[in-house]
Amino acid sequence: MVGRDEQLGGLRSALASAAGGVPVTVVLGGEAGVGKTRLVTEFAAEAERDGARVVVGQCVNLGGDGLAYAPITGALRELAAQLGTDALLSAAGPGRAALAGLLPELPHDGGQPAATSQGRVFEAVTGLLEQVAAERPLVLVLEDLHWADRATRQLLGFAVRALGSARVLVVGTYRSDELSRDHPLRRLLAELERVRTVHRIDVPRLTEREVAEQLTALAGQRPPADAVRRIHARSEGVPFFVEQLADLDDGTTLPESLRDLLLVRVEQLSEESQRLVRLLAVGNDRVEHDLLAAVAAVDPDALDRGMREAVSANVLRVDGDGYAFRHALVREAVHDDLLPGEHARLHALYAATLERRLASGAGPRRAVTAEAAHHWFCAHEHEKSFAASLRAAAEARSLAAYDEAQRNFERALELWDQVPEAAQEAGFDHVELLARTASAANNAGEVDRARALVDAALTEARAAGDAVEPGRVARLIGFRATLLSELGLPGATDEMRRALELIPDDPPTPRRARLLQKYVSRLMMDGRHAEAVALGREAAAVARAAGEPETEFRAYVVLGPSLVHAGQVDEGLEALRTAQRLAGDRPEWLVAFHINMSDSLHLLGRYAEAAEVAREGIDGARSVGLARTLGTMLTGNAAEPLLALGRWDKAERLIARGLELDPPGRHVWQLTGLRSWLALWRGDVEAASRSADEVRERLAGRAPGPQYSLPAARAAAEA
Ligand SMILES: Nc1ncnc2c1ncn2[C@@H]1O[C@H](COP(=O)(O)OP(=O)(O)OP(=O)(O)O)[C@@H](O)[C@H]1O
Ligand SMILES: [Mg+2]
Repeated sequence: MVGRDEQLGGLRSALASAAGGVPVTVVLGGEAGVGKTRLVTEFAAEAERDGARVVVGQCVNLGGDGLAYAPITGALRELAAQLGTDALLSAAGPGRAALAGLLPELPHDGGQPAATSQGRVFEAVTGLLEQVAAERPLVLVLEDLHWADRATRQLLGFAVRALGSARVLVVGTYRSDELSRDHPLRRLLAELERVRTVHRIDVPRLTEREVAEQLTALAGQRPPADAVRRIHARSEGVPFFVEQLADLDDGTTLPESLRDLLLVRVEQLSEESQRLVRLLAVGNDRVEHDLLAAVAAVDPDALDRGMREAVSANVLRVDGDGYAFRHALVREAVHDDLLPGEHARLHALYAATLERRLASGAGPRRAVTAEAAHHWFCAHEHEKSFAASLRAAAEARSLAAYDEAQRNFERALELWDQVPEAAQEAGFDHVELLARTASAANNAGEVDRARALVDAALTEARAAGDAVEPGRVARLIGFRATLLSELGLPGATDEMRRALELIPDDPPTPRRARLLQKYVSRLMMDGRHAEAVALGREAAAVARAAGEPETEFRAYVVLGPSLVHAGQVDEGLEALRTAQRLAGDRPEWLVAFHINMSDSLHLLGRYAEAAEVAREGIDGARSVGLARTLGTMLTGNAAEPLLALGRWDKAERLIARGLELDPPGRHVWQLTGLRSWLALWRGDVEAASRSADEVRERLAGRAPGPQYSLPAARAAAEA
């Protein structure tokens, strides 16, 4: 490798830091072909020699339709291959169920993998990396982040902050020239930039001297000075083009543009081989041999001949049991060079072949349906793409791959107007499609988008009048209220009441029970305890009558603290014990019990007991892989009574550890608010107001309910 001393130096010191327990993330940016992959490959080889473990995850370019977590899945597969599945599973600990969704080939206890929240997947992956790195430093390379799917971007944003003191170095590469103004990676990079442990390394073009070195290495002898000058000018110092130009340069016939240069090798192939190369360019980043054979529909000898030719001309390379382009740039050039009709025809060929294979039961379903939907879309076959998108969305949803489900639903929404009889084809109306998309978006963590979709669904439902039954409108209003509540926006409580008014109270239905329970929960958060008490009992009764054990449990768990607040202490603690009994040994329900029980005990001034219950809850949360979300909430619940008991140091340690885990918004408010109090009591007014400011900044425009905003306001006022 030529040059790159400075960049290698940066990577080396990042690894040293990570190995010492200060996890670091490096983002390597540079234009296409400038040598990012080469640089990380050389660095990774060196790191391995020095005792680190390296795994690589590759983002795939599916025109913005990349499968959720694609590079993460790839990296985990590599990890599984290195460690063996048993060791991987044991390192995953409580996260193994969530991992099963990413790696369906892992052995699990039969049946479909359980629906998993995104938070759990994040915790599972981060926890696994932490565990694996305990043995020796781990380098996780994520290649070509400009193609990363949203789930991967979110996971990366989470992991970078959450990795605590794990010995993990994350290296992400991306093409800087690929980032348009509104490219989604920009937001992540900006977000990462604010994290202290993230370093950005630029990979620049080569200087003329370096180009000379590269040419010397390629040819085995020093090229004449004028050739160096010409190639340096022509390649603009991009090593990929230097390579391409090296054996073309006979002093006369250099292609006009760099794009033409990319196609030179392809055009030198036989017509038969070129046809296969074009076909491959339309497929995925990597196309397996069997699929290519089915799509190409030529006899096996001709296929092998054509592929061998392209491989020996260095256009393609063999990749496991499939083929890929030697370099993505060539694939893109071939793809861009297709005639419009040819482009659509080849995509349709893939789609039809994939669906034929699906029908015959070959291959993993989920990925294949999504891919077929993508190909039909590119082929402008709207009806087929619509149908396949809906199927892919349903499959993704059943696997809790919400991001992917949302993307497929969104495509179906886009196609709706172009499909005759869309409602009949889908089996539901447009309002329902909006609602399902919103639900997927919400589960994928895109709450703002979910809200916009629900608003659209409601507007449409209302415009349709009687055509949409009141129960569905109620459900939409209820959903909207939940989103408002999640976003910390005002109006949630009233919306819920409106939705409830639309649902008849007889017979007791699960829907009514669930909404009633959520309403009670909102009332409690708004501090309206008397109303919460009155309706809480009703919610529990309706839930029981409707056969909804979880809702019944949740009703009691909320009823308890409301009673305590309303001064009915014994009844309140009794309701909480009922909740505990209903939870049985379901760890996730128990966590909710621990939260509200510790809250109530704290309110009653029974601090030692409150801290103890919260601590039990923290352990429970950790055991089900929810340390960062509900676990941090419980951290606040444990720290608060400790503060009251005067055990400041212990409280402070808990708060610090909780904040390190980078919990979601409102848990941060709580912990930062507590830290502000602590500083105040210690007489450190400056630190107190700093923390208070931080809370205020985070709270801006949000109304999270008095339980969050009051302590912050109080602390701020005192400071
Ligand atoms: N410093 C270098 N010295 C010698 N050869 C290099 C150097 N950097 C890159 N190359 C060669 O140039 C070609 C392109 O490099 P590479 O694939 O690493 O680029 P990239 O930045 O990863 O491109 P892309 O954005 O398409 O992923 C490779 O064949 C690589 O071996
Ligand atoms: Mg690369």
